[in-house]
Amino acid sequence: APPAIIAPSILSADFGALGKACSDTIGQGADWLHVDIMDGHFVPNMTFGAPVVTMIRPHVDRPKEAFGKGTFDCHMMIAEPKKWVKDFKKAGCDLYCFHYEAAISSTAAETPEGHSDQKTSPRELIKYIHDQGLRAGIAIKPKTPVDVLYEILDNPNKEEVPDMALVMTVEPGFGGQKFMPDMMPKVEALRKRYPELNIEVDGGLGEKTIDTAADAGANVIVAGSAVFGAKDPSQIIKVLREAVEK
Ligand code: DX5
Ligand code: ZN
Repeated sequence: APPAIIAPSILSADFGALGKACSDTIGQGADWLHVDIMDGHFVPNMTFGAPVVTMIRPHVDRPKEAFGKGTFDCHMMIAEPKKWVKDFKKAGCDLYCFHYEAAISSTAAETPEGHSDQKTSPRELIKYIHDQGLRAGIAIKPKTPVDVLYEILDNPNKEEVPDMALVMTVEPGFGGQKFMPDMMPKVEALRKRYPELNIEVDGGLGEKTIDTAADAGANVIVAGSAVFGAKDPSQIIKVLREAVEK
């Protein structure tokens, strides 16, 4: 399996001092920052958009290589994922992870090039993200079966294949929810089929649940409340990493 990557979700950080929270977390041993973008449509909650990402980006050194330390992992819980790729690229996003469910139900929407009424297929969207020089991730909600990802991942045209798959382990929208262990068969199936794939899990991860996720084969670990609620975030980051590496 690929190396362990610990990605604290800044959703649970102090939004009044977000830049410092980002640099502190990287200093405490985090690899990436997981940046939750919610639009109030795809999920029943809102966070922030590209202008905030632009303002926090200088607080963290840019990654030296793809998927390196300091990667901004933008989890796009938004109804129109194609619409915002260029803005997030400009803002300093490195990895643009959209939801499969949004891609199949949205239109190409308004892009700087003009309107389009065509559906954006996940494949086309991945290629579009790659064309902007970003890495692409694809996320599935708890009710979405994992096999929808197979034909996307098995595509021989690498430009249309995502660099990461995100298996949600809570319903997206809020931090601090309970981990859903019944999502682990999805992770196991992906790991078995794709030994080198970056598989991210998001929701309810912490000291009590990390072994379950790591044993299933997840290597990219998001943790919001567990990291930002800890007395010693560096200690919990270490626990998460050791569980994946053991
Ligand atoms: C939920 C977000 C998560 C959230 C995780 O919709 O995608 O990234 O911040 O928070 P915890 O780790 O507290 O479950
Ligand atoms: Zn997330």
